[in-house]
Amino acid sequence: MTSLKTDIAKTEMEETLTKIVKNPTLHNKFLNTISFLEHMGSRKILSTQDIRDMSESLLRHASEEARHAHFFKKMAGKIGQMPETYEWENLLAGYSAFHYFQNLDLMVQRGVEDSQLTNRQFHYRCYQYTSLIIEERAGWLYHIYRDVLANNGNPFSLDGVIAEEEKHLEDAIHSLQNADDDFESRMDFFRKGESDLFLRYYGKLKEKI
Ligand SMILES: [Fe+2]
Ligand SMILES: [Fe+2]
Repeated sequence: MTSLKTDIAKTEMEETLTKIVKNPTLHNKFLNTISFLEHMGSRKILSTQDIRDMSESLLRHASEEARHAHFFKKMAGKIGQMPETYEWENLLAGYSAFHYFQNLDLMVQRGVEDSQLTNRQFHYRCYQYTSLIIEERAGWLYHIYRDVLANNGNPFSLDGVIAEEEKHLEDAIHSLQNADDDFESRMDFFRKGESDLFLRYYGKLKEKI
């Protein structure tokens, strides 16, 4: 299941990603930036969820995001020199990417705040919404990126990553629909907020290419 984002036209994103993919220095940093965001995702799952709540689904999600982080970093090493660190100079608009994720978390925490939830439930609910919002963006972006890679003869495939992201998205939708009566209205609010944050990141990314 892929969400059809309308904030940036598909052709616009294709054009931007094509410029990145055609330039090995930019592509190396872009891959390391995607790796960085995947790593942040994994790390946030592990650090925010109560250790008593570590279900098979949570452990799978965290380990898959860690694997995606490793996959993208390994691919960065195939495009150019292996970027061993996530220092800003090894990333493409990395500081903005970091803020995109941090601000998304804050937005979700504020949006979930008024619910009658225990502390543990609150952190789990935030995890569910953040996952859903991020997976919608990842699904949209990775499908476009996959086609750009194929059109430019790149040797690696995103099919495995995309399949896992789609499963994360489905899991989040399924669990939230049953858990939150305000699911639709909250999602409208979060989608709008995420779009603003992504456009801000995208603007910074375009300044770098
Ligand atoms: Fe991922
Ligand atoms: Fe994911």
